[in-house]
Amino acid sequence: MEAGKVTPAPVLVRFSGIQKTYDGEHLVVKNLDLDIRKGEFITLLGPSGSGKTTTLMMLAGFEVPTQGDIYLSERPIKNVPPHKRDIGMVFQNYALFPHLTIAENIAFPLSVRNTNKAEVQERVSAALRMIKMETLAQRRPGQLSGGQQQRVALARALVFNPQLVLMDEPLGALDKRLREQMQLEIKQLHETMGITIVYVTHDQSEALTMSDRIAVFNDGIVQQIDRPDALYEHPVNSFVAHFIGENNVLAGTVETVDKDYCRVALARGGTVTARMANVSGAGASTSLSVRPERIAIIPEGTSSDGPNRLQATVQNTIYLGDHALAVLDVAGNAEFMVKLQPGMHGSLRHGENVFISFRPEDCLALDPV
Ligand SMILES: Nc1ncnc2c1ncn2[C@@H]1O[C@H](COP(=O)(O)OP(=O)(O)O)[C@@H](O)[C@H]1O
Ligand SMILES: [Mg+2]
Repeated sequence: MEAGKVTPAPVLVRFSGIQKTYDGEHLVVKNLDLDIRKGEFITLLGPSGSGKTTTLMMLAGFEVPTQGDIYLSERPIKNVPPHKRDIGMVFQNYALFPHLTIAENIAFPLSVRNTNKAEVQERVSAALRMIKMETLAQRRPGQLSGGQQQRVALARALVFNPQLVLMDEPLGALDKRLREQMQLEIKQLHETMGITIVYVTHDQSEALTMSDRIAVFNDGIVQQIDRPDALYEHPVNSFVAHFIGENNVLAGTVETVDKDYCRVALARGGTVTARMANVSGAGASTSLSVRPERIAIIPEGTSSDGPNRLQATVQNTIYLGDHALAVLDVAGNAEFMVKLQPGMHGSLRHGENVFISFRPEDCLALDPV
């Protein structure tokens, strides 16, 4: 669609000037402004302790903001109790009732809403079909695997057709393969049902896989809210560059600026051209950011030239099946990662001197770390 012709979906959730402190001193959420549109899959991503769960709990109604207001469909929800907010929730530890059957667990949100018996039966059957567990309706949670229990928790959160579903690290207890499978299942449910999901994780690849937009949290502050590709290609600062995807850092000082690009003198010698991303100008300290897949290795003795050519020493190579990495020492960074072209793994020797090269547009000059 052409830019400017898309009508954005209405805002369903608005965090406006939200602050939160538990002890009256330390703010764990510091001035959060965030709009979530109807139908969006938005992820709160950040390290442990950055304020993600607190933010989700304020939206659910289990914590009260110290400052600011949260709006649901333009209505402030300060005085609306959790069960009246029409929000489904899924947690990491499933929180299923162990003494109830799977069908009874899924029916629970309907019974507290006084839904009539026939409708409960119909909806529970539909929910069981959705998670492909019709035959397990009479089991108890203890008789199910972790993945199956998490599906039941998902069905229970969706069975009353909430307008909004909150998920806090729902896949954290599952092994990698099952986690990746469930990521796709949740994404598919989101697409077919058209619900709005606010998802919390500390796992950046999970966030990239699932989300329409990601809000990156650090120390109670949202650093950047953007689509996954924009976060990866255009991080606004070093924290985001480092938290999203693999990233190589080189320390330096900006020497000269020419429009959107600058010449940077590396701390250990050598100069490169970088894209101005988050530095003030000449004289500023900077951390350069370069992704492993944007770097070429040029064997020593090869005459081919390239932009931003730097000397490097091979430390190691790592074989990962679908690709391989070289670990290099570049300008004092002994953990500089380069994604290797297929077949190149094995041709590099430990201690070998090579050159690397990367395009100026693939090298971001960011705030110093
Ligand atoms: N109920 C609570 N009482 C006091 N401090 C809390 C409480 N819950 C969370 N915190 C603190 O608030 C900060 C943010 O925590 P949290 O929102 O759980 O972060 P995250 O989900 O990103 O790991 C942490 O420093 C945590 O110790
Ligand atoms: Mg948390």
